[in-house]
Amino acid sequence: MEDEIRFDDFLINEEGVFYLDQRGEREEIIPVCSPLTATATTRNTDGNDWGKLFSLIDPAGDEKQYHMRNATLAASQSAVISDLVDKGLIVSGHPKARGLLIRYLGSIRSQRSLLSSAKPGWVNDSYVLPDGYFGSQEIIYSGGYRDHGFGVSGDWKNNVGKFCSGNTRLLFAASTAFAAPLLSVVEMEGGGFHFRGKSSVGKSTALEVAASVYGSAGKYLVNWDTTKNALEEVSEAHNDGLMVIDELGLVDGRIVGPTLYMIANGHGKSRMQQKKRRWRVMFLTSGEVSLAEHMAEAGKETKNGQEVRLLDIAADAGAGMGLFENLHSFGGPAEFANYLKAATRNHYGTPLRKFLPILTASQASVEAECRSQIEAFTKRLLPANTTGEVPRALRRFGIVAAAGEIATANKLTGWKVGEAITAAEHCFKAWMEYRRTFDPTAKAVDRVRTFIVEQEGRFELIGGEAVNGKVGYKKKSAYLILPDVFRDEVCAGTKPEEVAEHLERAGFLNTSGTNRLKKQERIGGALAYVYSVSDRILEAA
Ligand SMILES: Nc1ncnc2c1ncn2[C@@H]1O[C@H](COP(=O)(O)OP(=O)(O)OP(=O)(O)O)[C@@H](O)[C@H]1O
Ligand SMILES: [Mg+2]
Repeated sequence: MEDEIRFDDFLINEEGVFYLDQRGEREEIIPVCSPLTATATTRNTDGNDWGKLFSLIDPAGDEKQYHMRNATLAASQSAVISDLVDKGLIVSGHPKARGLLIRYLGSIRSQRSLLSSAKPGWVNDSYVLPDGYFGSQEIIYSGGYRDHGFGVSGDWKNNVGKFCSGNTRLLFAASTAFAAPLLSVVEMEGGGFHFRGKSSVGKSTALEVAASVYGSAGKYLVNWDTTKNALEEVSEAHNDGLMVIDELGLVDGRIVGPTLYMIANGHGKSRMQQKKRRWRVMFLTSGEVSLAEHMAEAGKETKNGQEVRLLDIAADAGAGMGLFENLHSFGGPAEFANYLKAATRNHYGTPLRKFLPILTASQASVEAECRSQIEAFTKRLLPANTTGEVPRALRRFGIVAAAGEIATANKLTGWKVGEAITAAEHCFKAWMEYRRTFDPTAKAVDRVRTFIVEQEGRFELIGGEAVNGKVGYKKKSAYLILPDVFRDEVCAGTKPEEVAEHLERAGFLNTSGTNRLKKQERIGGALAYVYSVSDRILEAA
């Protein structure tokens, strides 16, 4: 602090802020408060939300920053004063001190100008968090949502990170945390993943591991038990970050679909007086049932648009230990889960604080690396002849794989190179398994493929030997299924027309023109109508 500053009738020095009252016969010096100076004037990128940044010295002699929104001072002077007092400002006992302090806060100016942001995340090429910024341009957080667990403690890599190794679901969950700030960098939409499984298999534990990349697991998790408007605010407060929402089952099945849709789409409803909120988040949820089952209990059906926003992953990794596959040196899965639960409450936040400086310092090269990893991942795993939402979902798995690898390459995780990719691949396959249960096209393809595989011997080679219980014919690259077999055997219990339509949509049905699902084929000199299924169906996932 400079020795002494005069501003209007205020005098600011290392003793504090004073007011020179010259109205009486004698000049009176009124003490206002302990040292407090304005160090910057702030506004957001739209030129609104004006405010001031203050520096104060608390009773312990520590310098602190306080950001004041001018609108807050206008609306609630006592809120500003109580915030300042909470930080350690001492207001003098003089009867005029309070009024003078408000006058001082309102009128003091600083020549320095900084940008502010009411939500965390990217602002130009910097990234701001409630308690700091990363990047070359200083950005001041002006939002009110500070208390959601962002923070730093301990040594995450050695106490949490390394134990994810060998556990596909834990690796994947932690990787989603690194992926969230990359969504904007590679211009990808927001969206989520849902760990589905029985009680006490480790679902919440996995979510806590992910949360601990950002802050204290206990505090960072978002409570579903909140109104829709509050959820908009909370979503915005996780902009460009990870949102962890445990227990999907707690949300009313009638609104859960639209709610998830809103979180993933990243904007709320516009309201009078208030700007429409916007955000982009990656989110994790967990529950004993899938989104579709949960909605079905309330008499609702999921739309494909909702399914692709929350990608379902079976929590059970199939190793007989619930969500886990490698217990490291722990005696059992429950012990391992309990260790992780405790560790994520003591060791947290550091990976994000190390990741963001890397992102902001070398954004172009991280972006290039991320894009090429996503490209390689999706190219390798995209199933042949796949439809609609699969490529879109696969890209989301891809960015998680890429983010995990980038964090690992920068020595933030304690994982082996390639582990995050393998984990994302396992989780993608788990989703593909789940997808069969809800996607009508996938179900139809699955039904016909299963029939062909199981009844291969009942297809007669055209011109070949007769077979018993013939279901159709086999020619070079197609299976020709007899119409009555298709109706009675392949599609028993369902509608043959619809199954055929889905097959056609998926590109596996050879037809003789639009509106004709059956194809005319010459068999043994005669013409017959059959369902001609391409043998590529055998390779479809
Ligand atoms: N894989 C596991 N095998 C056996 N016990 C486990 C396993 N994972 C967790 N547990 C036990 O269950 C407790 C709760 O773990 P966690 O919160 O991760 O479960 P969850 O799957 O979220 O269950 P719920 O559906 O009831 O919320 C742990 O404290 C631990 O005792
Ligand atoms: Mg749980």
